[in-house]
Amino acid sequence: MKDTAHFQSILAKRLKRRSLLAAGIASGMAAVLPACSDKRAGKGRAQQAGEPKIDKIDSSVGREEPVASTLTFKELPHGLDEDFAVAEGYEWQSVVAWGDPLFDDAPAFNPWKQSEAAQLRQFGYNNDYVGFIELEAKGTDKRGLLVVNHEATEPRLMFPGSPAGNQLDLAQCKIDIAAHGLSVIEIQQHASGPWSPVLDSKYNRRITPWTEMQFSGPAAGHNRMLTQISSDGVHTLGTYGNCAGGLTPWGTVLTGEENVDNFFYGKAPDGIETKNFESFDVDTGDKNWGEHFSRWDLQQNPRELLHVGWIVEVDPFDPTSKPQKRTALGRFKHEGANIYINHDGRVAVYMGDDEKFQFIYKFLSKNLYKEGDREANLTLLDEGDLFAAKFHPDGRLQWLPLQYGEGPLTPENGFSGQADVVLDARIAADLLGATPMDRPEDVDVNPHNGHIFAMLTNNDARKEERIDAANPRALNKDGQIIEFWPESNDHTAEFFRWELFLIAGKLDDATTNYHEGTSENGWFSCPDNCTFDKLGNIWIATDGATRHGIADGVWAAGVEGPGRALSKRFIRTPIGAEMCGPCFTPDNESFFCAVQHPASGSRFEKPSTRWPDFDESLPPRPAVVAVRKTGGGRVGS
Ligand code: FEO
Ligand code: CA
Ligand code: CA
Ligand code: CA
Repeated sequence: MKDTAHFQSILAKRLKRRSLLAAGIASGMAAVLPACSDKRAGKGRAQQAGEPKIDKIDSSVGREEPVASTLTFKELPHGLDEDFAVAEGYEWQSVVAWGDPLFDDAPAFNPWKQSEAAQLRQFGYNNDYVGFIELEAKGTDKRGLLVVNHEATEPRLMFPGSPAGNQLDLAQCKIDIAAHGLSVIEIQQHASGPWSPVLDSKYNRRITPWTEMQFSGPAAGHNRMLTQISSDGVHTLGTYGNCAGGLTPWGTVLTGEENVDNFFYGKAPDGIETKNFESFDVDTGDKNWGEHFSRWDLQQNPRELLHVGWIVEVDPFDPTSKPQKRTALGRFKHEGANIYINHDGRVAVYMGDDEKFQFIYKFLSKNLYKEGDREANLTLLDEGDLFAAKFHPDGRLQWLPLQYGEGPLTPENGFSGQADVVLDARIAADLLGATPMDRPEDVDVNPHNGHIFAMLTNNDARKEERIDAANPRALNKDGQIIEFWPESNDHTAEFFRWELFLIAGKLDDATTNYHEGTSENGWFSCPDNCTFDKLGNIWIATDGATRHGIADGVWAAGVEGPGRALSKRFIRTPIGAEMCGPCFTPDNESFFCAVQHPASGSRFEKPSTRWPDFDESLPPRPAVVAVRKTGGGRVGS
């Protein structure tokens, strides 16, 4: 078969590192192994007594048996049932679930008597991104802020009677809207026990599609940004479709507005933003918010759709702060955004646009990060350069500048300034020749070595004639993980190197590529989010394993040495759920993750699981889970 032959030749080229390791060829290793000279490369790698060390040079070369990775937990078997499950020796708890009160005065959850007012004081639906920011401990109690995205809802599971999202009455619609956005909640842990919400915390906040926000950067105040709710194109209301995100070193959260077109209703008048809406692949009809609020009716208010699709920066330390929509980072279906501070102080932000054949982006700040100068750092993401990634087949990644006036980004092609470039980022990246990817979800930086890992979740529309080195499979239903890094660790460089980290799918599928030691439980499908522990291991959350009859969940793998890409299953989600938002506490003794849409596809009256309460009077509830090692210790050990 042609694609198999092509696939094999691509594999031979782009999986070179692993075959070198397997063959025991040590020469040239220093050139392909991650740089470790930069002082940042050592950040977060504090070794604990007795813990194995990640080798910089592969010490297994020439050995029969691979050396054990630092991930020594006993692997969890595949399976699919109504409950959450974690590897033996670990315990889990629901920290906060949909409807849980976030404030002292919030009403207790009652799905039969839910109201907009109650939902505005309670944890929202379908938690996706989870960020943990450590606060100073109070005695032996650890404390932190959880910042959580509520990406979407599933009205058939939320409301008695199981209405579809496009058939909500006004009261239901108001509740539905209020269940979106973000929650900020302080949590505390007493004596290494369970985590619990602190309901009287001054930080707790709900951010919703009605919260006052502002645009900053090149598109702020532009004519195309004038709408029913914004006469100046600077002020706006709300965020929704918030998928993944990332923390900044200055203590804010970046949240990605992803499938924002789903919240709109109707059709825009001909000739208004036609090119943009085409490039945005606008797909309306999932919701009827626009029937009740003309703000979301494209016929009446088409440019409202330009107010979403951004990265929004939220300051969780100030509940009165206005979240800022950072337009310099471009508008597309943002999965999330993750930051690396370059050695010269410039801030690199890595981002994915999660749609079939869309792109990976990098933003580089003009100004420098100043440790301790929060006020200055809060404007870093407003000025700088945006780039889209072109993956060359020879292993080079080239960053193409989305700069007005350069190359094709001129008036002849419909661009009259940088505002147009960021608003029409997809069109610009396409004109520049960026590589159309297999749905880039989380694009996250490993603080251990500054390497970036992109979760390419799947793309079943890729035809044989469109496969390329970075996206090597036609009808790709299982996804792959791609790794890229700047040689000499300079994130401002035009050229990086790239390599496929692994190609997902069933272990016996000839088109997959795993570590040869991967067990029958170590394979997975559809990588979506990821995070890194302090030893540099990657923790991968999935969304799509159920097509193989197994639960989604979390798999962990090393990134260097003999345990590189040796994935092991750690968590199973309950039926219907995808796994989102993995993150660690800085001491790595707690691991947080988000169970999104448990029982998806079933109905309020007869859900396929009632996780996590298993109470006949309650529907299933999306929830943030904390996982700890029984008796304490580093998660993964
Ligand atoms: Fe909301 Fe790309 O997942
Ligand atoms: Ca996602
Ligand atoms: Ca992440
Ligand atoms: Ca997904």
